[in-house]
Amino acid sequence: MNLDHDQHTDTAAADNAGWDEATRIAETYYDSDPADRFYRHIWGGEDIHIGIYETDHDSVFDASRRTVAWMADRLGGVTSETKILDIGAGYGGAARYLVKRFGCRVDCLNLSEVQNRTNRALNTAQGVADRITVLHGSFETIPATDESYHVVWSEDAILHSADRARVLREVRRVLKPGGTFIMTDPMQADGVDTALLQPVLDRLQLPSLGSIGFYRETATALGFSVVAVEELTEHLRRHYARVGALLRTRYDEMIKLATKEYCDRMLTGLDNWVAAADHGRLAWGILQFRK
Ligand SMILES: C[S@@+](CC[C@H](N)C(=O)[O-])C[C@H]1O[C@@H](n2cnc3c(N)ncnc32)[C@H](O)[C@@H]1O
Repeated sequence: MNLDHDQHTDTAAADNAGWDEATRIAETYYDSDPADRFYRHIWGGEDIHIGIYETDHDSVFDASRRTVAWMADRLGGVTSETKILDIGAGYGGAARYLVKRFGCRVDCLNLSEVQNRTNRALNTAQGVADRITVLHGSFETIPATDESYHVVWSEDAILHSADRARVLREVRRVLKPGGTFIMTDPMQADGVDTALLQPVLDRLQLPSLGSIGFYRETATALGFSVVAVEELTEHLRRHYARVGALLRTRYDEMIKLATKEYCDRMLTGLDNWVAAADHGRLAWGILQFRK
């Protein structure tokens, strides 16, 4: 998640009119070849979020999949009738996991058409395309009618928004009464001086990150009740250190796939995340709200 990358690809210009600068930066970044190759080869191309580690030997892929399983464990009551929306869905790994486990229906919303194409292909290859719809769009203007979903799910995506309160308003709008919003996000620690996070923020090209206090207060003000807040920040530090170590181990292979410039910037970015975590400036965890 280091977006200071300037490679452009030509995607879906017609339906992204009106997107703000942060959204376009995220789209350009995730549509770029180096980012696509990095996430596919280093993360494993299903889940591209922070993993939960039980041992020092867990792979990035397995730890990232564990985050999905932990979140799914917390949902309760999901059946084949349940409609879930994943906002900022990446390659759709969570959607395939949820469909295979619960037989539910999932809509994946994502601004990256490059990732959406891979998502659709994986859904077909894994025999779940009939239960998953992949939508191109932004979570700041969710393309769904009011009260459409039982669950809104999001992993490590809302950080990319310059207006996170707007994203939560949209989540509330599309959730059915009593519906669940479950999310993770790389956040800043509450009370931290944002200026101290500048190396991390510069790479994201954003003025701030959310925080647990921000999400709790914003959700509460919108009428959500707080179901659970599980702070799991140690996994953020561990994960970014793990990804950095893996990239260093596979550096010669990855610079051919994703360019030296991209890999070097990524390594600097990952080191910045780890340093900020070591200074207690970051937070990460599973947050769950009910409408
Ligand atoms: C770190 S990835 C996480 C992907 C996925 N949630 C996962 O855990 O594998 C962040 C994702 O957010 C998406 N994203 C960023 N801004 C978005 C926006 N405004 N609307 C929809 N998706 C967005 C990106 O395209 C990317 O897929």
